[in-house]
Amino acid sequence: MEKNIAVLSGDGIGPEVINQSLRVLDAIGKKYDHKFIYHKCLIGGISIEKTGIPLTKETLDTCLGCDSILLGAIGDPKYDNNQNLKNRPEQGLLKLRKKLGLYCNIRPIKVYKSLLYKSPIKKSYIKDVDFLIYRELTNGIYFGKKRISKSRKRAYDICSYNKKDISRLAIYAFKAALKRKKKITLVDKANVLATSKLWRETLKEINIKYKEVQIDYLFIDNASMQMIINPKQFDILLTENMFGDILSDEASAIVGSLGLIPSSSIGEKTTLYEPIHGSYPKAAGKNIANPLGAILSVSMMLKDFGMKKESLLINKIVKNSLKNGISTKDINSKNPSTTKEVGDFLINSINLKKESED
Ligand code: IPM
Ligand code: MN
Repeated sequence: MEKNIAVLSGDGIGPEVINQSLRVLDAIGKKYDHKFIYHKCLIGGISIEKTGIPLTKETLDTCLGCDSILLGAIGDPKYDNNQNLKNRPEQGLLKLRKKLGLYCNIRPIKVYKSLLYKSPIKKSYIKDVDFLIYRELTNGIYFGKKRISKSRKRAYDICSYNKKDISRLAIYAFKAALKRKKKITLVDKANVLATSKLWRETLKEINIKYKEVQIDYLFIDNASMQMIINPKQFDILLTENMFGDILSDEASAIVGSLGLIPSSSIGEKTTLYEPIHGSYPKAAGKNIANPLGAILSVSMMLKDFGMKKESLLINKIVKNSLKNGISTKDINSKNPSTTKEVGDFLINSINLKKESED
């Protein structure tokens, strides 16, 4: 197969983790005879630096012209202290999500046996945890009207949802539920928020068509506690944009490191793959960032391309690297591997498999 991939490395540790992901992808391409063609584009802080804006039309057009998009990370502390700046790196990501209609964000939370000790949560609570967060990504408070008054004494951010936007994500979640445990947990704040009431109503309607699926309803405050005391209850956790943002960072504590979690964002025209971690500026350029979130995002991409065994192979060798302690210092603080060494290990594993099979 031949695939065109838009590569948006972004800021901070983005280029380093993407570098390793592309090396892994090349090794997979060689082994299975695929051609992956990379189209590198700017986004975020680096784009502001080079073009004056965080997302150019050129980047958008390239993304639209490709089979998929691989993104590293976005954010630069030099923009953080001045909240009034017109151009901020994060706007590039938000605009990209909105413009490409990337509404269905999927974040798998899966515990590795070899990392059970890494989580601050009791082993018995998190053993075998395996759930998916379905986060709405193009609406809600992130994209509603927002303003700070001239006097700077008042501000607002509007949270708005319409039924169509809720339904199209929910249908994805219901379909996924049918292939898994037939259970969805909707996280909301329906005791307070009008948008949450609409989410519940919409889900109940869709449930008529997918009646084998059971829906559990949890308020966000309770859900964030349940995430710690009983995360095994989740299979598909469905929620709106901001709740999903917060819960996915919380869920990463179950897995043991934020650096391990990949994601896909399915859109109307294309799909974007990115690790859920940020740009971790303190680690940038030091060869210490965990590349596995990005590499596992590549695995999600291959699966969506229909390259099942290629995707499974990446998952397998990642698991093996963790088992062998070939991990960056967020996981193996005593004897850490560098970002590149983790990549080397994975590539060697892919090539070794080749020799033994030939
Ligand atoms: C994420 C990030 C983004 C978000 C930021 C960088 C805007 O935290 O993808 O989870 O809040 O969605
Ligand atoms: Mn986040």
